[in-house]
Order: sequence, then structure tokens, then C-alpha cells
Amino acid sequence: MNAVATSEKQGEVGIITIDSPPVNAFGIAVREGLHGAINAFKADDTVKAIVVICAGRTFFAGADISEFGKPPQEPLLGTVFAGIEDAGKPVIAAIHGTALGGGCEFALVCNFRVSVPSAKLGLPEVKLGLLPGAGGTQRLPRIVGPELALDLMLSGRQVGANEALKLGLVDELVPEGALLEGAVAFANRVIAEGRPVTKVRDRRDQLDAVADKAPIFAAARAKAAKASRGYMAPENIIKAVEAAVTLPFDEGMVRERELFVELRDSTQSAAQRYYFFAERQGGKVPGLPADIALRNIAKVGVIGAGTMGGGITMNFLSAGIPVTLMEMTQEALDRGIGTIRRNYENSAKRGRITTDEVERCMALITPSLDMADLSDVDLVIEAVFERMDVKKDIFSRLDAVAKPGAILASNTSFLDLNEIAGATARPESVIGLHFFSPANVMRLLEIVRGEKTADDVLATSLKLAGKIGKVPVVSGVCDGFIANRIMTPRREQCEAVILEGTPPELVDKAIYGFGFGMGPFATMDLVGLDVINRSEPYRTVKQDLLDAGRRGQKSGAGYYDYDENRKATPSPLVANIIADVAAERGIPQSPPLSQDDLIARTLYPVVNEGARILEEGIAIRASDIDVACILGYNWPLYTGGPMFWADSVGLPKIVAELRRLASIHGPQFEPAPLLVKLAESGGSFTG
Ligand code: COA
Repeated sequence: MNAVATSEKQGEVGIITIDSPPVNAFGIAVREGLHGAINAFKADDTVKAIVVICAGRTFFAGADISEFGKPPQEPLLGTVFAGIEDAGKPVIAAIHGTALGGGCEFALVCNFRVSVPSAKLGLPEVKLGLLPGAGGTQRLPRIVGPELALDLMLSGRQVGANEALKLGLVDELVPEGALLEGAVAFANRVIAEGRPVTKVRDRRDQLDAVADKAPIFAAARAKAAKASRGYMAPENIIKAVEAAVTLPFDEGMVRERELFVELRDSTQSAAQRYYFFAERQGGKVPGLPADIALRNIAKVGVIGAGTMGGGITMNFLSAGIPVTLMEMTQEALDRGIGTIRRNYENSAKRGRITTDEVERCMALITPSLDMADLSDVDLVIEAVFERMDVKKDIFSRLDAVAKPGAILASNTSFLDLNEIAGATARPESVIGLHFFSPANVMRLLEIVRGEKTADDVLATSLKLAGKIGKVPVVSGVCDGFIANRIMTPRREQCEAVILEGTPPELVDKAIYGFGFGMGPFATMDLVGLDVINRSEPYRTVKQDLLDAGRRGQKSGAGYYDYDENRKATPSPLVANIIADVAAERGIPQSPPLSQDDLIARTLYPVVNEGARILEEGIAIRASDIDVACILGYNWPLYTGGPMFWADSVGLPKIVAELRRLASIHGPQFEPAPLLVKLAESGGSFTG
């Protein structure tokens, strides 16, 4: 018994309650408390059944993620579970909230599981680069069969109590709010009926139900190769389930352990565990009082019903917050609202929402052609095109109509927020809310804190981000803020190396091989060169391509040639254009760079820019930069983002390479002082 575990008896039922906020993770105190309490009831002959229940918001939410990487301490989860399996009397898990990871595995070890209807169960370890390493890979297939077990463990998805009941993961649902009573009643019935105490480990019925299991594993591998290219955990999960099917339970457990340890000790899993906490850090701003009074956001205004404005609007509608959507012309307004409806209807077709929900969301829009209609909203988000004069004009007019206390936000992706705020008489109420396209899908919200932005405006925006399902990252004001600024060097270097003699397809291959979804040139072709072109004071390949009518996939040609199936092939014409531009600009030619050299050349400058962003105080912490890159630019999560990746590569190595590049290509590669300082002192960005 210890501070987190309490025991009591109700008749013949022993009840163990674990209370370890915030989420009853299986840290050492919980393991010790639970193990001790189980052993005590095991030795108590008056106890005929044991109920394990958790206090607070949830049943065990899994292993304590912060303990991975530290020396393991007994009792290990496996020891606690063995104690339960060998208790010699029925153990019943009483589940509410989310039984995740080790929490779900705990439930699988118990002889019976009861839950309230709102509970959810899941094995999300794959998201942390792990597999369920406390018997989950061996027990789940014995309960739900290998195919479904693979689906659950490879997706990490949560299963609602009703589905869990159908799957046999839960034995009985008890009324909401009456979990303990329900679980004790269930335990008394088990005692009275003398129900056999079967151990999941001894079951084989579900394993033997399908004779030929090879297609199940082949399908799982094919799906994982597509959905999680580059990730190690899915393959190990598949191997562990193969072991469950082919080996006796104890040997399967040994195999699971080997596969688990391999993942636990990998850089990938360290990166993914780091990222779990990184996402949760973004909303924390040092110096912001925890008890600050927030502004009430009951109604929102959005200016601009284009792609961005429409996507932004949907976030609020989906969260049940009414939006006044303003445009310049009826036609633009109708078009914007039509797109929002189509998006919702597509979601309904895919079964993600009901048609009633579509109508409920659409009914929350108030269309408007008049800025005066924004006089009653609590927050206005401007989402018009990126021109300072236009934004300033809007903000000064907005200032005249918005009610006192309203937050005035700009969705600008690079303009000076302080200058925009200066167009109003209330710069303290002005903030940047930079959504990423498509704004209704992308989870990142860059919150740009201006020089004069008030603390309560920032705190309200952070809270609002959570409400609309976004992950916030706070940025100071600079050109491009965190995400767009840090990724600019990658674009510049990719464009530079093709002029030095490395063909675009090799650059794309290297970036794709690193783990990005697409290479930069393939991406530009997809987006459209006309959309992203900017005029430069010198001849560029992109401009030449545009002049040749090569606008990207939509015109059948861009950096690549495309066939009718949009399959890309390298183009000799593009190679000629590149050679011409390079010759005209006098750029020396070198042999194509290797994959490693390409990664260093294009991504070390990103790390360097990250160091500058940190030393200028634009980002609060390195992990915010990682979150911005992963969520905003699809930087491969399993590397942890550029700053975590830099730490794992080794900062001295990066500094040395940047210096070498500076000696060849110029001072833009000079390592930032912070990077040099950390490299020389043995420090790290994220450690
Ligand atoms: N280990 C350690 N800390 C954990 C944790 C875990 N398994 N799960 C959650 N926490 C911490 C979070 O870091 C957060 O800490 P903070 O308040 O200091 O930022 C706090 O618990 C609350 O978590 P949060 O995610 O903000 O709350 P939520 O209500 O939105 O979600 C969960 C709760 C349990 C659904 C969610 O935290 C979760 O998915 N946890 C991970 C579960 C998991 O992967 N388990 C398997 C581990 S191998």
C-alpha cells in the first residue's frame, strides 16, 4: 500500500483504487501500490474477487512515458501483471476514461472487464514508436483474433465501450457514474455463479479460427508500407503478432520483449516520445499567469471566404461556434459558402459526420458583405491576400466597428504583425493566428505574439486553439514566423543544388528518402509553379519553366513531364533550361551530390535557421520549432523534427559541415552562435 493505492473490502470483494493524477500512468509508485495491494488481497482468504478501479479522469493511460530511457525499476509492469494472472481469484478491471497502452494491457490480463459506456480502450504504442510490450501483442489476438488485433495495434485507434463489448474486449457495460457499484455487483455475480477464472493466455480459439493467416500478415505489411513508410514499429508489431499465432504463449512473450526492446532503444522511438511531450509543451508560455482571466469567445468573424478563410471558418463551425463570414462580393461569398458545404458533405459521405451535423454547422454561418456586421463578434480573423496595404486598411476599418475587447487576428503567414497592429488604436488586442492550408485539416496553429499583444489575448488564443482541435505554437514577429522561416533555407538550397549539377529527381529522391512525403520539386509541380513563383532580380529555372508553359501537373509538365496518369519522368528540356540558367549566372558545375551530401546541404541550414530563431527569442523552445515543422511541413515525425534530429546527428558534425559549406558557398552557411556554443559545450537543443 502506498499513497496512490487504497484498498477496502465490500463483503467478499476487495477493491483497489489507484489515484495518481493526471492520468494514472503506470509510474513506479502506481506499480508498487498496485502490486502490494494485489498481493495483500491474494493472501486474504475472505476476499473472493478483486476489483481494480482508478480515481480521477481516467483508468490507467499506459506506461509513464517519461520513464522510458531511464533504468527500469522493479516491480516492472510484467511482474505486476504476473501477480494478477496468478492471483488465484477473479480480478475485474473497472474502466472509465481511456484505458490506453499498458492500461489496456492491464485490462487484458484481468479475468473480466466492465466499463461505463463512455470509456475507450486502445493500444496507441505505435504512435510512440513502440509496441504493447506487456503482453498486449500476445493477449489481444487471443481475444479479438489476429486481423483485428493488427488493425488496432497498427492504427493505435481507440475503441469505444460499445464496440469493445461486441469485440469481447469488455464483458459488461455498467451505467455512467455507477462504475464502482456496477463492478462490485458484477464481482458478486462472478463469485455467486462460481464462474471459471480463465486466463487469456490459455485461450487459442480466436487464433485457430482462421486456418490460413498468411494473407492477413501480407495485407498488414502492405498497408503499413504505405501508411507508415520509414517507421520501424509497425513491422515489429506484425512480427509480434506472428509470434502470438505460431508460438506457445511464454515463447511469444519472449519474442515480444525482444521486439519491444529493439524499439524502445531506437532513436525513432526516442523521437516519437519526445514529440508526445513537445506537442503538449507548445501551449505553455513562461510568464503567462495560470489564473489569467480569459476573454469570452462566443462568436467569431472571418474576413475572406477564399480557401484559407473558408477552412478557418470550418474549424469554428465544427466546434459549435457561430461565424460571421465576410466577403467583398456576393459571388465570392456564395462560392466560399458553397465550398464549405461541399467539404462537409464530403465528410458526411465518408461517414465522418452525419447529415444533421452538416446542417448544424452550416446554420452557424452568418454571411455578410458589410464590415459593420462584425460589430458583435468576440474575435475577428482576417484571411485576405498577403499585402500590407490591404491588411492595414482592413485593420483600421475593423478597429472602427469591432466591439471593445474583441480580439483582432490576422492569418498572415509572413507580414509584420506589429505594423498591422499599428493600424489600430488597440494593438494590445491584435494577434496573429496563422493557420496552415487546408486550414480545416492541418493541426498546427502558429500564434504570433506582437510586441504589444496583451497576455490575456495570447492566453485566450491558446485556449481557443485547444477548443478547435489545433496544436498551438507561439512565435515572435519575424519574416515567415517559425515554420515558413525555418523551411526557407531548404527551398533555397534545393533550388541552388540543381543549378550546380544535381538533377531535380535526385534532390527529390533524397528528401523523400529522408521521410518527407514528397520531394520539393514534385511538390512544386503539384501545387503549381504559377502559384508559388516569386519574381527575382535574376533569371530563375522556375520562371523559365513558366515561360515555357510548364506550370506543373495541371499543365502536364513542370520540373517533370507527366503522362495521362500523372506519372512523373525527368525531362531533358528541363535539364537544358537548368544548364542554360546556370551558364548565364556563371554557376560552377559539380558532379551530382550523394544522398548524404544532399541531406546535409539542404537540411543542416534548416537546423542553423532554427538556432537563429531560438537565439532571437522568436521561438520559446526548440521543441516548438519541431512541432511547427512536423505539423506544418510534414517533417518526418520519427526524426523528432529538425532540432531533435540535429541533436541525434551530433551538433559538432553539423557545425563542421556548415563551416565547410560556408568556405565553398559563402557566409549564409556560417553556423549560428547558439549552434556553435552548444556544439562546443557538449550541449543540445532538446536534451
Ligand atoms: N505518461 C506520462 N505522462 C502522461 C501520459 C503517460 N502515459 N499520458 C498523459 N500524460 C501527461 C501529459 O503529458 C499531460 O501532462 P501536462 O499536463 O504536464 O502537459 C497530462 O498527462 C495530461 O495529458 P493530456 O494529453 O494533455 O490530456 P488529455 O485529457 O487530452 O488526454 C490521454 C489524456 C490519456 C488520452 C492522453 O494524454 C494520451 O493519449 N496519453 C498517452 C497514452 C499512451 O500513449 N499510452 C501508452 C504509453 S506506452
